[in-house]
Amino acid sequence: MLFRWDKSSLVVHAPAKLNLFLEVLNKRPDGFHELETVMVMLGIHDTLRFTSLSHSTSEATEPAVSLRVFSINSPKADPTAFEENPPIPAGADNLVVKAAELLRTHTGYAGGANIELWKRIPSEAGMAGGSSDAAATLVGLNHLWKLELATEELRQLAARLGSDVPFFLNSSRSALCRGRGEILEPLDLPLGLFFVVVKPRSGLSTPAVFRRWRPTGSRRSALPLVEELRRGPSARLAGTLYNALQNPAEELNADISRMRDVFSNEPVLGHMMSGSGTSYFGVCGHRRHAERVAARLSSRRIGRVVVARSQF
Ligand code: C5P
Repeated sequence: MLFRWDKSSLVVHAPAKLNLFLEVLNKRPDGFHELETVMVMLGIHDTLRFTSLSHSTSEATEPAVSLRVFSINSPKADPTAFEENPPIPAGADNLVVKAAELLRTHTGYAGGANIELWKRIPSEAGMAGGSSDAAATLVGLNHLWKLELATEELRQLAARLGSDVPFFLNSSRSALCRGRGEILEPLDLPLGLFFVVVKPRSGLSTPAVFRRWRPTGSRRSALPLVEELRRGPSARLAGTLYNALQNPAEELNADISRMRDVFSNEPVLGHMMSGSGTSYFGVCGHRRHAERVAARLSSRRIGRVVVARSQF
């Protein structure tokens, strides 16, 4: 997570993630699913700008935390881009506002903040844009409001906001995640990979995809993937990528199987859906390879196409 001060505002970059492996172990009594998943941060990010707002509850008519959301992906500037549909909510439902309010109630802090959120990461994509924005808010406001909460305390608040949020507080840029996804084992991976990510216009609801999942009786391990990542990019990677949510997602949304067909005809080292979808990625050995694949996919107008490097 990158920080800089701009006059009296704090600017934070919130990166996207991809899941290169995701096994669902079982459904838990609390309704969540026990996972084993490998997550990597990507070099594509949202930007958040935090400005302090003095706010006293006695005179408060305005909310203590105000959020404005801007989409950077204007179709005018970039013909492969499209506006989020439906637009991203800027009210109390947005995880950024929830993170800020959680910090205020947890610490008793009485002030407020104006937050601008510049979106680049597609929504409903399995790239954890909302979760990363929430993590950036916890870290950003902890600095801006001089709360001095330790990382472990922030991590506990993060887990209350969502299963993917703690990953973005991790100093390592890739991790083997267990539990709901919030128990992290940092991975020390030597090489970056290039990804071509396509986000079709349609999205998928994470709870709906998990509800559709059924146990298969067999269980895959993430370790072969981790070993391959340590060795560096090769065609052996294809056999180690795995996502147990891809079948249920394909049953719910025909765009996913369409993406699988499209990527099967591309010279990538492996391809798969990320998280609960709908973004779909191909792995490439180097940037020029990824840009060639991306140019072909962009011309087919199957969705928004992004080239991103893993941030190992
Ligand atoms: O944790 P988060 O709020 O991101 O989860 C959204 C939804 O995804 C949950 O309400 C649940 O339906 C599903 N989920 C799950 N098991 C997980 C993570 C998420 O069933 N490990």
